[in-house]
Amino acid sequence: MLQDKTILVTGASSGIGRAIAQYFSCQGARLVITGRNQQRLNETLVSLSGHTHTALTANLDSVEAIQLLMDSISDKVGVLDGIVHCAGIKKTLPLQALQEKDFDDCFSANVKSAQFIVKFLRKKGRFNPLGTSVVFLSSVAASCGEPANSTYAASKAALEGLAKSLAMELARINIRVNCLAPGMIKTEMLHDFSKHITEEQLSKLLQKHPLGFGEPEDVAHAAGFLSSDLSKWITGTTLFVDGGYSAH
Ligand SMILES: NC(=O)c1ccc[n+]([C@@H]2O[C@H](COP(=O)([O-])OP(=O)(O)OC[C@H]3O[C@@H](n4cnc5c(N)ncnc54)[C@H](OP(=O)(O)O)[C@@H]3O)[C@@H](O)[C@H]2O)c1
Repeated sequence: MLQDKTILVTGASSGIGRAIAQYFSCQGARLVITGRNQQRLNETLVSLSGHTHTALTANLDSVEAIQLLMDSISDKVGVLDGIVHCAGIKKTLPLQALQEKDFDDCFSANVKSAQFIVKFLRKKGRFNPLGTSVVFLSSVAASCGEPANSTYAASKAALEGLAKSLAMELARINIRVNCLAPGMIKTEMLHDFSKHITEEQLSKLLQKHPLGFGEPEDVAHAAGFLSSDLSKWITGTTLFVDGGYSAH
């Protein structure tokens, strides 16, 4: 499905990003993977099939680091056919506990990074003028409210707004921009989140997913579709991958 496409996957050192990198490599893509933790990023790298792939560590909290990463990809790898931006953080905080830094960290990792990755992709010679796909990892939290989740929810709603406007701005140069909105997926993020809630709250959340919690591979398959030419007429939209959570 992704034969010989060159794709950047951020957040590839863990969870959904790692599963996407692994699935994409099986589908014939050549990958550039990035994350902050070098050891876990290398574990992902050695688990990939096929082509020679590239791993570059970067902290996407700073615009300078994003620019360096995108410059380095342009020099070392060349034109990108796609980006799946999985790097992100979740803050589970009731309003009383929320500090300004939590808000800034969340918006920096989840929204600012996405904006500037696309800004530095948009330069001539960095994207495929015949068709490039950008996929952001949003969440059902962007459209379905849950307590103690307001900052994370706001950041993901901002990401969806960003994707729509970028889709309009970039369609004329054949860059598509879409979001995936997963429900609860069994990753480290869910593990961390479950430490902040009671067993009863976790069980209620599970019940809200008619098909149960998802596997990272469920998101990887949807990311494969949005990154492939099968979705060449789809831009500015959000695909829910949530076991039925948002159908309530
Ligand atoms: N898991 C879920 O239930 C769920 C549901 C809906 C949406 N999502 C979204 O899906 C995406 C992936 O989630 P996940 O569950 O796979 O999370 P995860 O296992 O915690 O992985 C998060 C990834 O993001 C990277 N990252 C975080 N902040 C970064 C930064 N400032 N710079 C560079 N990399 C950074 C981490 O890198 P290091 O580990 O190397 O630091 C890691 O690779 C996130 O955007 C999340 O909001 C997840």
